[in-house]
Amino acid sequence: MAILCTTSKAVIPPVSGALGGDVFVVDDLSAADRRLVSDPAETLVVIGSDVDLDDALNFTACQRLTRPSLGVVLLREGLEVAVLALAIRAGVREVVPASDLDLIAEACLRSENLSRMTPVAVSLPSQQGTEGKVAVVFATKGGCGKTTTATNLAVALHAGGTKRVCLVDLDLAFGDVAISLQLTPVRTLVDAVAMDGRLDVTGVSGLLTHYLPGFDCVLAPVEPGDAEQIPASLVTDLLHVLRRMFDYVVVDTPPQFNEHVLAVLDEADHHILLTTPDVPTLKNLRLTIDMLDMLSYPRDRRAIVLNREDPRVGLTVADVESVVKTNVTSRIPASLAVPASINRGVPITVESPDHPVSIAIRDIAAGTIAGARHEPSAARRGFLGLRRRSG
Ligand SMILES: Nc1ncnc2c1ncn2[C@@H]1O[C@H](COP(=O)(O)OP(=O)(O)O)[C@@H](O)[C@H]1O
Ligand SMILES: [Mg+2]
Repeated sequence: MAILCTTSKAVIPPVSGALGGDVFVVDDLSAADRRLVSDPAETLVVIGSDVDLDDALNFTACQRLTRPSLGVVLLREGLEVAVLALAIRAGVREVVPASDLDLIAEACLRSENLSRMTPVAVSLPSQQGTEGKVAVVFATKGGCGKTTTATNLAVALHAGGTKRVCLVDLDLAFGDVAISLQLTPVRTLVDAVAMDGRLDVTGVSGLLTHYLPGFDCVLAPVEPGDAEQIPASLVTDLLHVLRRMFDYVVVDTPPQFNEHVLAVLDEADHHILLTTPDVPTLKNLRLTIDMLDMLSYPRDRRAIVLNREDPRVGLTVADVESVVKTNVTSRIPASLAVPASINRGVPITVESPDHPVSIAIRDIAAGTIAGARHEPSAARRGFLGLRRRSG
């Protein structure tokens, strides 16, 4: 059933007549997007002439990347050459005068025929047949730099576009990934709830927010209360599908153990545990490590990253290691350039690749994640694995 996006009631009967009577009417493009998430097999969206042109073109450009088989037919009052050029660039299939019902019907038919010949498959992994790696960045203390590190690690792993990366914001109640990257959360993880139990590549593609070519994000919900709707099993399913679509999946987390975090820890190949050089945070890291040991997560998945290292603070790396009784794997220096880059909405690894913070993060990406060799399946013997065995 085609989707018709319009706020003009008068347009609905003639357009749905031209489309054979079978249309799902929405009054904005976010609703069209949600409909596409819940019905990934849909192949046609007709956008009414009352919808803002820029919004229509952004929507189309976004869909083209994630749903190549979807056709967008744009209705306009008049056909200006400049509009046609923009529409073609965005990937609109046809621009048709809103008043000509015959032309609308013909354009929709041509688009549907084309969709039938276009593969539904999207976002394929760059190494066919291999699964991507999942890295989770975690700390039970807020403000350690989880979002900063996860975001910049994702940029580093993307390696200038040579690898496909997905950044997942699992801080479901207070996610900061969208704002850190200046993304508008039109689609979020809550849209996956309608696909619970049947999440596949097409459905997950509809959840993605595009950041750079080959770098997509799954953003956290924006409405209060949405987080509670998301079952932990959905997070596990999401990561299974993302592994097939991306070389690397980086997961940002909230500052507490919850069932979503445990689902990710179960699934992840790399547990990047963050701390800062202050006594309360170190105490929390020690407790976190004890908890992960208790839950039998393999220690070789673990990397301890000391963020905001600063000689003026008075705690040396040796002090840190003696408090947490574990070696520090990597260090990221403290720098005012980090909050400055966040305030500009551009990760420091993008805007200043030669900055010591960027170099430290690239070293973690290359040494701890990209360069690591181990059996991914062994990583999934964590908490839920134990529960499954005992239950
Ligand atoms: N290496 C660093 N040097 C200086 N400031 C940092 C560094 N890493 C993070 N920050 C700052 O710390 C604050 C919290 O970082 P954030 O990534 O949001 O933490 P979390 O996600 O753990 O709550 C932000 O203002 C960020 O700019
Ligand atoms: Mg955060």
